[in-house]
Amino acid sequence: MEAHNNILKPWGSYFAIGLLFLFTCVTSFPVYPVAPIATIDPVVPIAPEIPIVPIVPITPVVSIAPEVPIAPEVPIAPVAPIVPTVPISPIDPTAKTHYHEHGIHQRRTGWADGPVYVTQCPIQPGGSYTYRFTTEGQEGTLWWHAHSSWLRATVYGALIIYPKEGSTYPFIKPKKEIPILLAGEWWDANPIDVINRAIRTGAAPNISDAYTINGQPGDFYNCSMKGTKIIRVESGETNLVRVINSALNQPLFFTIANHRLTVVAVDASYTKPFTTSAIMLGPGQTTDVLITTDQPPASYYIAARAYASAQGVPFDNTTTTAILEYEPTVPNAQTAAQLTSKHKHNHKRRFQTSVFPRLPAYNDTPTVTTFTTSLRSSPSNDISVPTHIDEHLFFTVGLGLNPCKPGRSCQGPNNTRFTASMNNVSFVLPSTLSILQAYVQGVNGLFTLNFPKVPPVKFDYTGNVPRALWTPIPGTEAYKLKYGSTVQIVLQDTNIFAAENHPIHLHGYNFYIVGEGFGNFNAKTDTAKFNLVDPPRRNTVGVPVGGWAVIRFVADNPGVWLMHCHIDSHLSWGLAMLFVVENGVGELQSLEPPPADLPKC
Ligand code: C2O
Repeated sequence: MEAHNNILKPWGSYFAIGLLFLFTCVTSFPVYPVAPIATIDPVVPIAPEIPIVPIVPITPVVSIAPEVPIAPEVPIAPVAPIVPTVPISPIDPTAKTHYHEHGIHQRRTGWADGPVYVTQCPIQPGGSYTYRFTTEGQEGTLWWHAHSSWLRATVYGALIIYPKEGSTYPFIKPKKEIPILLAGEWWDANPIDVINRAIRTGAAPNISDAYTINGQPGDFYNCSMKGTKIIRVESGETNLVRVINSALNQPLFFTIANHRLTVVAVDASYTKPFTTSAIMLGPGQTTDVLITTDQPPASYYIAARAYASAQGVPFDNTTTTAILEYEPTVPNAQTAAQLTSKHKHNHKRRFQTSVFPRLPAYNDTPTVTTFTTSLRSSPSNDISVPTHIDEHLFFTVGLGLNPCKPGRSCQGPNNTRFTASMNNVSFVLPSTLSILQAYVQGVNGLFTLNFPKVPPVKFDYTGNVPRALWTPIPGTEAYKLKYGSTVQIVLQDTNIFAAENHPIHLHGYNFYIVGEGFGNFNAKTDTAKFNLVDPPRRNTVGVPVGGWAVIRFVADNPGVWLMHCHIDSHLSWGLAMLFVVENGVGELQSLEPPPADLPKC
């Protein structure tokens, strides 16, 4: 229980302190929104005043009772090991909101999935909605976030599912669970304004000003020399670190100076352990690593910075840091006391003396490939890769450019507007009713079941793509799957505008990544190389830049599920599609009826 407490408690403090501090950095900038702190308590139904703590008394996009003073720590009950139902309180008196539990399967409970206008309408000001779902059968590091426009820039948190009572991790028992490291992305502006401006002008949204770890940018930004996340360890321990990329738009490398990272899980699925000096996470992805504190007692930087795979595309090239700090070994009590007080009071000294890691170059795709192709499912996952495939799907993923409306001027390249698509369909969200409601209630006109199973035109996807193919067609299109059908999707990046590593996330499911490679997927030669024995299981796959990835899953979860690029600028441009998975036979294979408190549209 103790460990659980340790993990849970800081959620509140990280964000409250982190974001407050950032505010002091940027007082010369206009006022912008801040994160409420939501916590997830699987045991006790959460009272409205407990789970979400206000941060700053300004006009936020999402805020909870802004006049309430900020608690440095939110009181949270320890998490229970068995979690049948997890209510998340989304109560919000001032703004429309909703939450998505990224990676939770939502078996039969698609109503609790959260993406706005896909599975629910926004919770109206003053309204409430309880997300009811089970985490049965899932274990590991996930997270939750807002799922509308760019709200998730500040509205997110970790969601950890511990092993059931009596069971344990399939790897050496860690001495400590190090608090979760949530890497975020920060704009010295209201992120909603940033994306709205981009959508208005057609330009790419401004790049961020900082990355953060647990709400803190760390020591390498002008505004931030205090409040950096410090993780205290003792020599000779093996500790578990859960890393989550909650940045909006940026895949990130992550490393710890002088320490090897032993990867043991990705996206809440265990992996065969392997050791590396750096990991890469696309937005949405999580990775659990073990670290052994086998270095001389000192301070070591934990650092994250961009993996920027698209050539010639601007990105935020800053580095966010936290510090891994060895507790002084105690033979000499006085020195220990001195050290501790130095640690406490002399931040500058720590800054000067901490060991800084070597990070991969921004465009180091070979390191990414080595990492992703080293991932293997652990047998403890009950590996069951579909071998007979009912649905062979092939989806292109990539950007595009739309012409400017006549008589207007646009700020995309050559007077165009940026767009993005899958199979040439640029996804458009409805705005009057959620698609899940429309599907269940038989409301026509909100979406079609016409999403193409292959690209409408075959072309050299990663070659020199003719300009005529750069302009996708807007639509709200779903692909229908029979309950229990086995699905393979080839996700093929394109060279349209710029090839890029796209983190493609599927709601409602985990999938196996049976293969990946560069260039155009070749069914004949590449299929033969699939790993059907122990492929990694994830909910978000990084499709290699100028390459492809192939995923497989069984469509055994009825509902309406979004699949999209987790780079939010790409999602805003339409890099998404929907699966409608039909009910099977009987209640247990059918979507539950809509909950009574489902927000009205
Ligand atoms: Cu993490 Cu559709 O989201």
